[in-house]
Amino acid sequence: MNLTLAILLVLVGLSSSNVLPPSPKPLKNPTETSSFPSWFAQRACGWIGGCGGLQSLVETITSKSPFDHDDENQEVDDQANETSFSTNIPSYVLDFAPLVHLYSGEKFWPCDIAEHLQHVTPNLNYTPMTSSLNNLNLTNLDQLNKYERGRFVFLTSNDDVEARPDWLGGEKNIPNDPEEIHSRFQKAGQGRQMPMRHENTAQLHGGRSDAPAVLVVVNKGQGIVDAFWFFFYSYNLGNLVFNVRFGNHIGDWEHCLIRFQHGKPISVFLSEHYFGEAYTYEAVEKIGKRPVIYSAVGTHAMYATPGRHPYVLPLGLLHDQTDRGPLWDPTLNAHTYTYNHTSDHLRASHLTPSAPLEWFYFNGHWGDKFYPLDDARQYVFAGQYHYVNGPLGPRWKHLGRRKVCQGRFEDPCVVRNWLPSERVVEVEEGEGEGEDWKGDERDPGGDREV
Ligand SMILES: *[C@@H]1O[C@H](CO)[C@@H](O)[C@H](O)[C@H]1NC(C)=O
Ligand SMILES: *[C@@H]1O[C@H](CO)[C@@H](O)[C@H](O)[C@H]1NC(C)=O
Ligand SMILES: *[C@@H]1O[C@H](CO)[C@@H](O)[C@H](O)[C@H]1NC(C)=O
Repeated sequence: MNLTLAILLVLVGLSSSNVLPPSPKPLKNPTETSSFPSWFAQRACGWIGGCGGLQSLVETITSKSPFDHDDENQEVDDQANETSFSTNIPSYVLDFAPLVHLYSGEKFWPCDIAEHLQHVTPNLNYTPMTSSLNNLNLTNLDQLNKYERGRFVFLTSNDDVEARPDWLGGEKNIPNDPEEIHSRFQKAGQGRQMPMRHENTAQLHGGRSDAPAVLVVVNKGQGIVDAFWFFFYSYNLGNLVFNVRFGNHIGDWEHCLIRFQHGKPISVFLSEHYFGEAYTYEAVEKIGKRPVIYSAVGTHAMYATPGRHPYVLPLGLLHDQTDRGPLWDPTLNAHTYTYNHTSDHLRASHLTPSAPLEWFYFNGHWGDKFYPLDDARQYVFAGQYHYVNGPLGPRWKHLGRRKVCQGRFEDPCVVRNWLPSERVVEVEEGEGEGEDWKGDERDPGGDREV
């Protein structure tokens, strides 16, 4: 591997004072949006990657004062005003929805959260909870919050994960028509970017997966609308270091955020383990006008390009791998919602009015608690475990974020306007495989008692 290529990064490990202006003290209460516009404008430079070489983009954002409504923007903003927005998802959210290339050799495909619940038993402290909830489903899952507020509840596999039961693999949820898509690519030529980015080519479509994606649309005010696309997999197969695997977990939530300003897509964030990367909308690959993203084999970390994606943990170098496997169009099957991050209020959108709500409020983990060291399946080396905790659900993915990146308010957020070739993401000391983010900001906002 060519480590002499740019070792750039970025989210963590980067001295924020060198490149980015110091972050302001975050507003504790997200309702205090009065200072959001000027704050947003001031930060635009930092968010867009340090401003160097990006003058045109930065200028349009800082000089046009995007938070002043003008006539041109009024129409699109109306689509997202507080009255009409309560359950309506603006049409541009679907027009610019991502298409996801799964890995061709994937063994752990997208899964249906409803089906996942049929194969797990809630556990507290490694002990199955015997309760009235024998039949977990999407409309009663929040009742587990009665037990220590649900925070320590782990939805634990009924099967030995190492026996690889079929439901973990989700093979039946492979998006349809992959062969047809493949043959169209071959006919269309071999170029890495062409002809896919050619606007005049007949639009290629991805397939439908039987596993519904989850769309959560958040109106942040001042013309900003965030469309969070969540993808669920019943299993995360960790990566190898010196041929030893680390970071497996049951239940895997990944997401892609498309941020809109006055109805136009401006940036895209991709989740990768407990880090992630942000790009301008212009920078990312597209089919028609839809961003194309890649889900890494096993871990399902999301990337903007096919290929190798190395990252460094304290114990060594790992890499994710993506390619142009089956193309998944999440708009063909999804639970769709609007969410007010201030009141912590989720609503089924007009697109899927019967989408279940209660599962979203479950406070616990979507997979097993990490196995103790006396469990034969577990091992630990340099602080990294073979099996780690299952993740929390979408409500904990910082839906109220101001910067497009996940992570703490004060963390730097670099929004690139170019796609990287191979580069290495360096991970902060003490971090490991798994999806848990440090800090409290991942907690949902709002006054709702959890
Ligand atoms: C919001 O949208 C609704 C429905 O389109 C419209 O009737 C209302 O006047 C709009 N409100 C504002 C403040 O723009
Ligand atoms: C979930 O289970 C409850 C009983 O606990 C039942 O009333 C409800 O209809 C079920 N919901 C679905 C979506 O099956
Ligand atoms: C979100 O909820 C807050 C508090 O209830 C309310 O003031 C605000 O208008 C709501 N925002 C939207 C976009 O509905």
